[in-house]
Amino acid sequence: MFEAIVNRSPQSESWRKIPWDDPDFSRRMLREHLSQAHDAASRRANIIDQQVAWIHDQVLQGRASRTLDLGCGPGLYVKRLAALGHICTGIDFSPASIDYARQNGAGTYIQGDVREVAFASDYDLVMMIFGELNAFSKDEARRIVDKAYAALKPGGKLLLEPHPYQAVEKIGNEPPNWYSVQSGLFSDQPYLCLEESTFESDRAVWRGYVIDAQTGQTTEYVNMLQACTDDDYRHLLRQFDAVTFYPTLANDADEGSLCAIVALKSE
Ligand SMILES: C[S@@+](CC[C@H](N)C(=O)[O-])C[C@H]1O[C@@H](n2cnc3c(N)ncnc32)[C@H](O)[C@@H]1O
Repeated sequence: MFEAIVNRSPQSESWRKIPWDDPDFSRRMLREHLSQAHDAASRRANIIDQQVAWIHDQVLQGRASRTLDLGCGPGLYVKRLAALGHICTGIDFSPASIDYARQNGAGTYIQGDVREVAFASDYDLVMMIFGELNAFSKDEARRIVDKAYAALKPGGKLLLEPHPYQAVEKIGNEPPNWYSVQSGLFSDQPYLCLEESTFESDRAVWRGYVIDAQTGQTTEYVNMLQACTDDDYRHLLRQFDAVTFYPTLANDADEGSLCAIVALKSE
């Protein structure tokens, strides 16, 4: 019954991530985004307020802007930026998050994959926060950054909030773990989750085996994070005029786990 687990291969050739775009998974993930008990999927409201104030003051210098949020989730940043007078578009491929954003936030929302959707142009700011850049392979990240560059007006800025190299390495070196829940992110039914991580070839690979408590049916989930050095980020952003690193995006609690980068497109 559990041969797939026993005979698992710790590494995976193709790039994989958790199924954010699956309707049921996204419905359960939306609960995590909105939870005020933890900062796992989105930050809690008070932290988002601080980060939006930082983006408004430090990145946009308080000037009304056209902003594009890539991987916007339930629109928690778009909504707040729109309330400050910015014209905002959010793109995300999670159906539940986009439904929630459309019902609860100002701004325009596109349900689609940032790797495939065409971005409009003339943005003052394109942003991708909360480590999402690392959840793409190096080639995918390159294509997303190229599209973001093309979507910016001269003088526009790209704001990234990626993981430093050591943070991805630490995630990949987490010890194996297991837990059981009556219902959770991976199922509405009781399940057991066995999880392990590896770090190899600049990649953290998390593998979770979700075992239905009643049927024993096992589903494997895999999520990958690409580790990048500061030089890798500089290389990725080489078309930009100036690239500035910040230790955090206005939130000391994440120091070391996430940093912020603002890249300026030349006038
Ligand atoms: C960690 S969450 C952050 C959400 C939001 N930025 C926030 O901080 O509240 C990452 C988001 O990226 C979205 N996402 C991941 N891969 C994507 C893709 N290829 N295209 C569009 N959205 C994607 C997920 O659905 C999820 O909403």
